[in-house]
Amino acid sequence: MKLLAIETSCDETAVALIESDGSFPTPTFTVLGNALFSQVDLHAEFGGVYPHVAKREHAKRLVPLTIKVLRDAGMYSERMEGLNPAQMLRFKELFEREPELFRQFAEFYSAIQPPGIDAIAVTHGPGLEPALWVGINFARALSESWDVPLVPVNHMEGHVLSSVMQEISQTEYRIPHLQFPAVSLLVSGGHTELVLIKDWLDYTIIGNTRDDAVGEAFDKVARMLELPYPGGPEISKLAAVAREENVEPTFSLPRPMLDTDNLDFSFSGLKTAVLYLLKKQDTVTDEFKKQVAREFEDAVVEVLVKKTRKAVEEYHAATTIIGGGVSANARLREALTEEFTDLDLFIPPATLTTDNALMIAAAGAFRFHSNQTAESEAITAHGTLPL
Ligand code: KG4
Ligand code: ZN
Repeated sequence: MKLLAIETSCDETAVALIESDGSFPTPTFTVLGNALFSQVDLHAEFGGVYPHVAKREHAKRLVPLTIKVLRDAGMYSERMEGLNPAQMLRFKELFEREPELFRQFAEFYSAIQPPGIDAIAVTHGPGLEPALWVGINFARALSESWDVPLVPVNHMEGHVLSSVMQEISQTEYRIPHLQFPAVSLLVSGGHTELVLIKDWLDYTIIGNTRDDAVGEAFDKVARMLELPYPGGPEISKLAAVAREENVEPTFSLPRPMLDTDNLDFSFSGLKTAVLYLLKKQDTVTDEFKKQVAREFEDAVVEVLVKKTRKAVEEYHAATTIIGGGVSANARLREALTEEFTDLDLFIPPATLTTDNALMIAAAGAFRFHSNQTAESEAITAHGTLPL
């Protein structure tokens, strides 16, 4: 079956088309088309993501990205055929708040034949609601005009799937046999969660952050060090330089909630500790910044690894699955690999760590397989959608 996926939850506009072969839960996915536009440079100017800027950019990019994906898949055919008046009204209604997307959609729709697509997956949360709505309305319009079912996908489930997708070639991924129960550590700009996965698509949150998400803490500390947005990769680079040059921190930062009895996290105290440390300095030298980056990263990694181990022990997990943007962090990947030699460890391939549409396609394929389609009208954006 062929499935088109749309992701607009934050600052990446992404569209992918996959073909799923083999039987579930161990299918093979062939990538027929995959396109992404990152708004990161735009948001870097403001030092963070503004929802209405993100929304406007998604509306601008969705049609061109979809055309590219269909072209790459050899499924784009020019055929001039205008929208009929009833369709025109319906699309106007769907795109009421996005005139630019409506204009592009009308042009785009009239130029293609309905491709042989079996389902359209779209992220409906968690994320920025104005941004999510653009993707949802676009998916609705395609679904209605092509008469193809919609599959709402949880963005965090996408991150779980991205981690277990094993690259066979540049365009082929395999889902291996998984041993359950699994414990998943999901770390991104908005989430820091430990999730118990008892079986496919069966999730229970067993640990959560009480304040900042870990990616958010990276971004905030980076800002204190006057590093550009997004701060995670910048801190990571600086910490690597510090290790290479043997720059040893002359202070130590707290490891919040390291030894507490639960599986929860807290990162705001760590962030505040960095703030006080910097305030005490007359001048913040580059050398000092290196020390902060190294010690901050070490503190975060130690907490994440230790809490994941605790969850694995408590729930007798056979598998650990790491996902989310922060799983791009080299130090974290290294520490997890050293720690979890006794069970199956899944870390996403570098290309799938940050937001993308392939992971939404993979999750969508699983949901479609278990008949979890939804009526166009029933799908709404849900900013805090839980797993
Ligand atoms: O999953 P993601 O792309 O978007 C969300 O769903 O939030 O995660 C983005 C987050 C940002 O906070 C970014 O700073 C962080 O992931 N990040 C990293 C690294 N690469 C991205 N944090 C630490 N080290 C990295 N190498
Ligand atoms: Zn994400």
